[in-house]
Amino acid sequence: MGKVLTVSRVAGFEGVVRPPSDKSLTHRAYILAAMAKPGSASVIDAGEAYMDVPGGVSFSRIPGTYESTIQDSLRGEDCEATLECLKALGRFGEHLSATETRIFGGPEEWHSPESPLDCGNSGTTMRLLCGVLAGLPGVEARLVGDASLTRRPMGRVAEPLRQMGASIVGESSPLEISGKPLRAIDYQSKVASAQVKSCVLLAGLNATGTTWTSEPALSRDHTERMLTALGVELQRSDLLRVGVEGGQVWGGFNFRVPADISSAAFWMVAAACTPGARVTLQQVGVNQTRTGILDVFEQTGVKVEIHRETEELGEPVADLTVTGPAELKPFHISGDLVPRLIDEIPVLAVLATQATGQSTIRDARELRVKESDRIAKIAEGLGEMGARVETFEDGLSIVGKTALSEGTIVAGGDHRIAMSFAIAGSLASGTTTIVGAESIATSYPDFFEHYDELAKSE
Ligand code: S3P
Repeated sequence: MGKVLTVSRVAGFEGVVRPPSDKSLTHRAYILAAMAKPGSASVIDAGEAYMDVPGGVSFSRIPGTYESTIQDSLRGEDCEATLECLKALGRFGEHLSATETRIFGGPEEWHSPESPLDCGNSGTTMRLLCGVLAGLPGVEARLVGDASLTRRPMGRVAEPLRQMGASIVGESSPLEISGKPLRAIDYQSKVASAQVKSCVLLAGLNATGTTWTSEPALSRDHTERMLTALGVELQRSDLLRVGVEGGQVWGGFNFRVPADISSAAFWMVAAACTPGARVTLQQVGVNQTRTGILDVFEQTGVKVEIHRETEELGEPVADLTVTGPAELKPFHISGDLVPRLIDEIPVLAVLATQATGQSTIRDARELRVKESDRIAKIAEGLGEMGARVETFEDGLSIVGKTALSEGTIVAGGDHRIAMSFAIAGSLASGTTTIVGAESIATSYPDFFEHYDELAKSE
């Protein structure tokens, strides 16, 4: 049954927190640091390119080394799984302190791990590592995960990697991979998925020729931005199609990971749902491919002030202050907006219950294959709390405004469902019970500390 939490109604939300660091960026920083090699052209360029970016945040590539220092990485279970897998593959990585992690790439061979690589609950770990491992001849690995990850589709990365010449057995966890010399492909993904795109690009870096990948709508572009910042040349035929020539290398780097807008989203919605509330989230990554929630807030009439804008390894960063309006308008999410807020949909569904009128979320079939079937989980939980919810194969429609009442929510190994219903519980009468809340540690270990800091008692 796991950890059970109870949440009661609060009077409002007020204060300032720095949400946990970005999960997507931490995975990528660890993996790209582990792949670094010295002596590349990009490293020589970087000798002159030590630079201070606007806003005074320093970004640096480290000339001639393959040692990277990652500051403020996310210490949630998902990213720890990535680090442990990289160590099992022969890379050196260690947390030097609560805020600093050192990782060595280097010329040494990657080696086959002695036991299965445990990706835990993390789809990003499994899919991105598939891209790395596919092009490492002689390395053989078995990738496994927890019950939730085992249900998730892996054919979407196995298919392009097999086309490139990789040997992968399995369509879902466990996967058996044997690294092979890879050839470039031109892959058209049917889903807008940063995990698929990143997997293909990482494999493309070890392939002969230029590997292209395209997607139906633009998913988060962190891999592209980080590679570019490290001196790797990417090609683009249009916004949705990106290519990389194999054989390019990069050296060590310093990177400070900004806060995760997907975690900030819980407090942004909590503030939005409470008239007069005012919450500031510090150092949040505001890459355009992640800020769909701001578009929804504009539709809904929620004011967001953006200040102290800086940049970190090609990623824009800012403080966000959200003020709760007297009334919320309904909103509509579909098409290209979906990948820009895919992980925020559970908590935006809570927002929809507090808006006056019908909100709709469509073109979001991907929610069915996240850490849980999120369409079903949202409908089940919000329905139990008295909301008017209709489901579709690709989304939901929610009619508000509803005075939510207490419920019992089974989070089903899904951190974002657990946290979204903690926010719903803070708005509801009575006491809401969340079963399976241990999953929160995958992305937001300090969630309840921040809850206590921001929530004002009745
Ligand atoms: C992620 C991409 C998204 C997102 C996931 C993290 C990433 O998944 O839902 O939480 O770091 O690349 P998809 O790329 O499968 O849409």
